[in-house]
Amino acid sequence: MSTEKLKLAVFISGRGSNLKSILKATEAENFPAKVELVLSNKPDAGGLLFAKEHNIQTITVNHKDFDSREDFDQGLLDALEPHNIDLICLAGFMRILTPVFVSPWEGRMINIHPSLLPKHKGLNTHKRALEAGDTEAGCTVHWVVPEMDSGEIIVQKRVPIEPKDTPDTLATRVLEQEHIAYPEAIKIAAAQIRNSSS
Ligand code: GRF
Repeated sequence: MSTEKLKLAVFISGRGSNLKSILKATEAENFPAKVELVLSNKPDAGGLLFAKEHNIQTITVNHKDFDSREDFDQGLLDALEPHNIDLICLAGFMRILTPVFVSPWEGRMINIHPSLLPKHKGLNTHKRALEAGDTEAGCTVHWVVPEMDSGEIIVQKRVPIEPKDTPDTLATRVLEQEHIAYPEAIKIAAAQIRNSSS
């Protein structure tokens, strides 16, 4: 692979604040990747509008148009096929992916999760961190493997949990760290992808 920037596909389901932080990072000349396209499983995801405003190609693959998770995953594969994507960034993409999609992209797909993995896989991470009496929370960017929220960790950021925290206050503090963690993780992932293909 040359020193050309890696082509990213960012997968979202909602407002896309992580997408915004990734796009911001790609403005730096020495950032190793650029956002080639944004894909959403929800036609009304706020992040799609943001992408369009920034002249980024968008694709919607609506999970409701498919009979099974496997069929949806095949729809994702088909949608990506023409785009020569180097790295997929799951950024608030709220669908469980099956091996139909994960296997062909293993080693070229990363995810952000709002907890200090391996703690609190799955949903409602902040509520669960508070209920567990944790003293710190955070976020993790990791390689995606077939088992949910389980691949090798690339970057983790920690925040202290304060006595007055609610799931919402904690989510806000963790999200700030997500926006730092994701661009850092893309740099590391890009370097690994380049090394493995050189
Ligand atoms: C983030 O907290 C992410 O970790 C979680 O969903 C949220 C998405 O936020 N999986 P945004 O759409 O990037 O603003």
